[in-house]
Amino acid sequence: MTILVTGGAGFIGTNFILDWLACYDEPVINLDKLTYAGNPGNLRSIADDSRHELVRADIADTETVASLLTLHKPRAIIHFAAESHVDRSIHGPGAFVQTNVVGTHTLLATTLEYWQSLTGSDQEEFRFVNVSTDEVFGSLDPDDAPCTETSRYAPNSPYSASKAAADHLVRSYFHTYDLPVITTSCTNNYGPFQFPEKLIPLMTINAAQQKPLPIYGDGKNIRDWLYVSDHCSALRAVLEKGQPGEVYNIAGNCEMTNLGVVEAICKELDEQLQDRAATPRLDLIEFVTDRPGHDRRYALATGKIESELGWKPSESFETGMHKTVSWYLENQAWLDEVTSGQYRQWMDLNYSERA
Ligand code: NAD
Ligand code: TYD
Repeated sequence: MTILVTGGAGFIGTNFILDWLACYDEPVINLDKLTYAGNPGNLRSIADDSRHELVRADIADTETVASLLTLHKPRAIIHFAAESHVDRSIHGPGAFVQTNVVGTHTLLATTLEYWQSLTGSDQEEFRFVNVSTDEVFGSLDPDDAPCTETSRYAPNSPYSASKAAADHLVRSYFHTYDLPVITTSCTNNYGPFQFPEKLIPLMTINAAQQKPLPIYGDGKNIRDWLYVSDHCSALRAVLEKGQPGEVYNIAGNCEMTNLGVVEAICKELDEQLQDRAATPRLDLIEFVTDRPGHDRRYALATGKIESELGWKPSESFETGMHKTVSWYLENQAWLDEVTSGQYRQWMDLNYSERA
């Protein structure tokens, strides 16, 4: 048997594949367009592992996807591929509609045709897991209860709107065509291999190098944080025991303000580097112009996945943060590779006009 992963050269997909091959012998076909966020170097440690094959292609390329499905006959698809950064979606929403909406729809249509060609238990046991986000539910007030799987969708950024549209299409393929899909909604992930445009890796590398730490607005926006390997274990549980047509929330039960997260990074770096930094790291914090439409708070209730699938996170924020900061400090060559010219252009575009 084989599984097909889309977006497996990105942050979560990479961690998913490495963890998968550490747990099971089942091969993985990794379909990835290798955008700026996809890095084959992430998978260097399995370069000689015959259980993994990276295929550079777009999820919207029907012909290539169809031929991969026919050739490898996967028993499941885990769909990570997406444009994933809210700030980039503000500067250029078109790419988000193309990959997250059109791409996901093309992948669904191609998968449906493949699934309809299967018979017996191959057809019954097939699963399409759609990896989604808490951001589709929009912003919560401080006293609101965390969102459940049936909360109303209210996306506010082009990123979250494109993910919401994808989720609706996935749902429709279950109700209309019986395609055995499952959607997962997860809160903010952090850990090894996260591209340093996102909060935690960006602040970690800046604080390590004594560079400014640009916090949007007042820094009191709240996110729930989950260490990436816990997301991966939740997805394995969903694949194994989740019910077609269902949605499962995945979260760390770890709500923190952005300011709290950045303070924790500074503290962890002080402890790991023991370098008595010239400028105390907390003094590097700068409050900069807010992100337009910046959602105040996200939070998800996880009772369903805990009671029905028996999943719980195993890392705390402290243990996850310790591992993450160590990883970034120990992987300077990886950082040099991903923070090339293109990365610097993005940093200029996103930060130069923030007061
Ligand atoms: P990422 O940006 O690090 O990686 C995305 C990957 O998808 C890259 O390897 C990229 O090359 C690939 N890709 C992009 N467009 C493609 C296309 N058209 N065809 C094939 N491949 C394409 O993203 P991530 O943080 O790893 O997120 C993975 C998934 O998890 C996304 O669907 C995202 O919405 C979801 N998610 C992320 C988080 C988070 O905190 N990072 C939280 C919840 C859900
Ligand atoms: P991010 O990592 O982009 O994830 P998301 O927007 O998908 O939650 O941002 C996490 C939070 O950190 C979000 O509230 C925006 C904030 N943020 C900053 O304050 N400064 C930054 O430089 C970045 C990248 C994010």
